Amino acid sequence: MISHFFPVLSQRVSHVLYRVALMMKPQVVFVLGGPGAGKGTQCSKIVENYRYTHLSAGDLLRAERGREGSEYGQLIDSYIKEGRIVPVEITINLLRKAMEATMQKNEKNFLFLIDGFPRNEDNLQGWTTVMDEKANVKFVLFFDCSNEVCINRCLERGKSSGRTDDNRESLEKRIRTYLESTRPIIDQYEKQGKVRTVDASRSVDEVFADVKAILDKEG
Ligand code: ADP
Ligand code: C5P
Ligand code: MG
Repeated sequence: MISHFFPVLSQRVSHVLYRVALMMKPQVVFVLGGPGAGKGTQCSKIVENYRYTHLSAGDLLRAERGREGSEYGQLIDSYIKEGRIVPVEITINLLRKAMEATMQKNEKNFLFLIDGFPRNEDNLQGWTTVMDEKANVKFVLFFDCSNEVCINRCLERGKSSGRTDDNRESLEKRIRTYLESTRPIIDQYEKQGKVRTVDASRSVDEVFADVKAILDKEG
């Protein structure tokens, strides 16, 4: 009975493989910056104006935390409150699945803004292991602003975001994680000439004007 279905199954698998082979290699822009620097805000504006798909690692982790039956809910919850970076095995799978689902919907959707990743050495290694051959990192879009601006924006966001980490205690830890773990990753990409830095302390529209100039030049 089961063998009856195998030919159909293998036909479907080869059809999917054929379509995957036809797809463009995903082109990725990593979006980094301190907590509250405006990564999500600017990514939304990019999506309105360009053919990019926005994937926020934090949003994917929060969704996984809330997914019924997830084995990682509690772990993710405690990492987020503590401002720590979740082990990459979890995050990279969420990102890979989201990228695959996006491209399966429409093969023209091969441009990705990956927001809030890679945030530490573990994230970067996970990307290199799982995704390096599958996707091309075009550059890193770095939203640069002071810790003070970051903290104030997150505290303001915390009035309505419902986020468990938009409070002063979590923010101190998130800033520390950013300085100790994420900045060195940005520095590594900087040495490769792959960082495009934007002064994120200005108004949303002023920041976006710079973002546009970068994307219009680099695609
Ligand atoms: P991130 O994704 O980097 O954590 P968000 O895009 O969520 O940052 O922005 C954090 C908070 O700051 C939000 O409440 C947002 O509305 C606000 N915000 C974003 N960009 C600016 C800006 N350029 N000036 C003032 N407030 C901003
Ligand atoms: O980017 P965002 O502010 O939404 O991230 C919120 C939290 O999600 C981080 O402070 C961290 O605990 C977790 N996160 C992570 N790994 C990532 C991105 C986010 O562990 N790559
Ligand atoms: Mg965000």
